[in-house]
Amino acid sequence: MKKSARIFSGEILFRHFLILQSKIPDMSHSTPCVKRDGFTSSFGVLAATLGSAVGLGNIWKFPYMTGANGGAGFLLVYLLATLLIALPVMMAEIAIGREAKANPITALQRLAPRGFPWWVIGACGMVAAFLIMSFYSEVVAWVFAYILKAVEGSILSNDPQVTGSAFNQLIQDPLQSLLWQWLVLIFIGGILLLGVAKGIEAVTKKLMPLLFLLLLILCAVSLSLDKASEGIRFLFQPDFSKIDASVVLMAMGLAFFKLSIGMGTMMTYGSYFRDQQNIPTTTLRVMTADLFVSMLAGIAIFPAVFTFGFEPAAGPSLVFITIPAVFAQIPMGHLLMVLFFVLTAVAATGAMLSLLEVPVAIIHERFGISRRKATLISLLVLAMAGSTCALTNSSMANVKLFGLTMFDLFDYLSSNILLPLGGILICLFVGWSWGAQRLQQALSNRGQLHNQRMIHVLFFLLRYISPLLILIVMLKGLGLF
Ligand code: PHE
Repeated sequence: MKKSARIFSGEILFRHFLILQSKIPDMSHSTPCVKRDGFTSSFGVLAATLGSAVGLGNIWKFPYMTGANGGAGFLLVYLLATLLIALPVMMAEIAIGREAKANPITALQRLAPRGFPWWVIGACGMVAAFLIMSFYSEVVAWVFAYILKAVEGSILSNDPQVTGSAFNQLIQDPLQSLLWQWLVLIFIGGILLLGVAKGIEAVTKKLMPLLFLLLLILCAVSLSLDKASEGIRFLFQPDFSKIDASVVLMAMGLAFFKLSIGMGTMMTYGSYFRDQQNIPTTTLRVMTADLFVSMLAGIAIFPAVFTFGFEPAAGPSLVFITIPAVFAQIPMGHLLMVLFFVLTAVAATGAMLSLLEVPVAIIHERFGISRRKATLISLLVLAMAGSTCALTNSSMANVKLFGLTMFDLFDYLSSNILLPLGGILICLFVGWSWGAQRLQQALSNRGQLHNQRMIHVLFFLLRYISPLLILIVMLKGLGLF
């Protein structure tokens, strides 16, 4: 029987079932004589990991969530969630991935004691990846469409009416929304087909530095605007009156989303890490750089919001309506705006690649089929699930569940429920099953790094503090307690 036919035959599914039950060893990941692909240089590891963390989360989600939830108060809670919860979980995930050198499901199976179904974390991660990609790919689609609009110059205006209606026209057109989304999927799929080193690493390494540079220029322009100080005050002066349990949950969800944790992405990337890579240092650098990019995006956006009379709590459309206004203000604004949307597309591409890599690695390694087929299968599933989000502002505007459109539902469900839940399970796995000694071995590169004390603190956080905090924030935020 041809291999492709076998994938869908009961044989492979049954084999997969047995593997999950740990009755037979999983050999599918070890295709004979084929070396597992991985990152090839220290900078490459950093760029790819940062490429996953930095994305629309910084440029699109962070500013609008900060705007909608009262500015600096939200920022402070977000910072705390990042340090106490997200950072430890990120280190743990990468360590798990590198120790097992496999996709999240296989990784957890290998490291868990026999009979304990910790692999469920990987399976839930795959579901979360599809949910996130469904709405994420649509926002990337808007960014791609905006590159074209920026080239034409049709959105170069500081009139909220003009930029607002350009945005609405785009998202309310079902055909455009779908076509742009498919274009994005084909583009991302194409890069993934090149592999981990030649695809993911090569692309992110070149383009991440450029993004930083452009954001810096944008900030300089924005800070020179009339009401810059009002925008900056909004971003940095805490007002705690807006903070309630659901805002805290959102800030924590954003911290998970930002660092791409709680769903297997960092575990998958960890499995491509080099053995000599210093995981804690890399993680700290990624977290710091990621925060820095979010701050830059905030500094670029809020002065313009106040200067031109936009609405800081405008929601998801904020970036698409305010950023053109900043560019309309400056010499060479036209050219710089094109560059801005190109680089946002780049940032989003790095994040999308890491999201798609989760199902691709799982399907490829567990079913023993080629990366190409695994990518195609994932893209097909995604095109179907994603279309519900693409049509959320047009044909499917009235399709709602729990009062939310598919776009909002997938966003809420993933960030506020699935990622934190994945985070709790990862903490519990490391803190109570894997144990201090193995974590120590993994994070100190078998004793070569002198970071024992830091790992002690980390283990304490992972075992007691982080899971408890996540649980309390989740239950309170969801109104269950
Ligand atoms: N961290 C990415 C961003 O900020 C999004 C992402 C979430 C990527 C989860 C991978 C996994 O845009």
